[in-house]
Amino acid sequence: MPDGFSVHHAAELADALLAWYAVHRRDLPWRRTKDSYRIWVSEIMLQQTRVTAVIPYYERFLERFPTVRALAEAELSEVLALWQGLGYYARARSLHRAARIVVSEHGGQLPADREALLRLPGIGDYTVGALLSIAFGQDAVALDGNVKRILARLFDYAGESSTTAAKRTLEGYARALLPTGRARQFNQALMDLGTSVCLPGVPACGACPIAPYCLARERGVQELRPLRARRGPNPTVQMVAAYLKRDDGRWLIARRRPQGLLGGLWELPTFSVPSDAGEPLATFLITALQQELHVAAQIGEELLNVAHGYTHFNVRVRVYDCCISGEPALHEHQTWDALHWLAQDELADYGLTGVTVKTLEKLQGTLW
Ligand code: ADE
Repeated sequence: MPDGFSVHHAAELADALLAWYAVHRRDLPWRRTKDSYRIWVSEIMLQQTRVTAVIPYYERFLERFPTVRALAEAELSEVLALWQGLGYYARARSLHRAARIVVSEHGGQLPADREALLRLPGIGDYTVGALLSIAFGQDAVALDGNVKRILARLFDYAGESSTTAAKRTLEGYARALLPTGRARQFNQALMDLGTSVCLPGVPACGACPIAPYCLARERGVQELRPLRARRGPNPTVQMVAAYLKRDDGRWLIARRRPQGLLGGLWELPTFSVPSDAGEPLATFLITALQQELHVAAQIGEELLNVAHGYTHFNVRVRVYDCCISGEPALHEHQTWDALHWLAQDELADYGLTGVTVKTLEKLQGTLW
């Protein structure tokens, strides 16, 4: 605890925050349950994704998979199809694997134990803290980006916020503030404060129940906290995709291998173009289709030029209308493990990559 901040202050601060939360708390679907499975699903979906985007996915997911067992028994393809559009698909794959472990090793009950939780795929420090406190009522801290920002301001932490040292220090502050027996409410109060009051950039200090305790505000530096590392722009990868539509209206799609980026999702046959390709894209695409899918292709017009941003890089995909003779095939392909001719009425059953959804939507009008 930094100088000038006593245990007494910590108790006052917790009381003020909990009183604010009692009035301002958001009524969210996962706050109406104590079912640890449901809270677990919410926490996984909320990693990297905003509450408003999560709610419809959460409800649909739990309707289809109401229990850990239902999820464990499902095929991964169905889980991914329900996740489509939420992004960060590794979360869905890990959740599915973890559900199978919970059934096989923990009798279908999520363990209420830090070490056992950490051994499950997709559950890191933050999620363990959230689950222990929210699902099991234990005195655990849970630091996501929002909570770190609040703590960095409260204690005017002047170091860079993404380091391990920062995490350790801020975690220590959170522990010192945590009111015994009330972590469930306290942690969620911090989350709500972070999304509605203690905002990135310019916080709404006038509406903040704990502003009287905030060192950064006292010093007028709240907009400078937390200190962020400067990062260059994400690189852009150039790609070319084949839009292959058969006479019966089906499109050719390929499934990405489960281990890699966007694993298990389906996409139009898409190839990275090296920056030194040195040939027209259409020629490049003919060669790629021959080498990778073993078909002779004729390339028509460029239909679309789509940009899409992922976490660490952007892609720009130029989509060409193509015609092939023969049936495409994969021979121990590095990127894909299956091919399928997709019909319009199967769209909801196949988890597609973001770029593929964008492409098909633009070319077909609204699909869903
Ligand atoms: N973000 C992560 N967990 C949350 C929760 N339980 N409520 C609101 N936002 C959250």
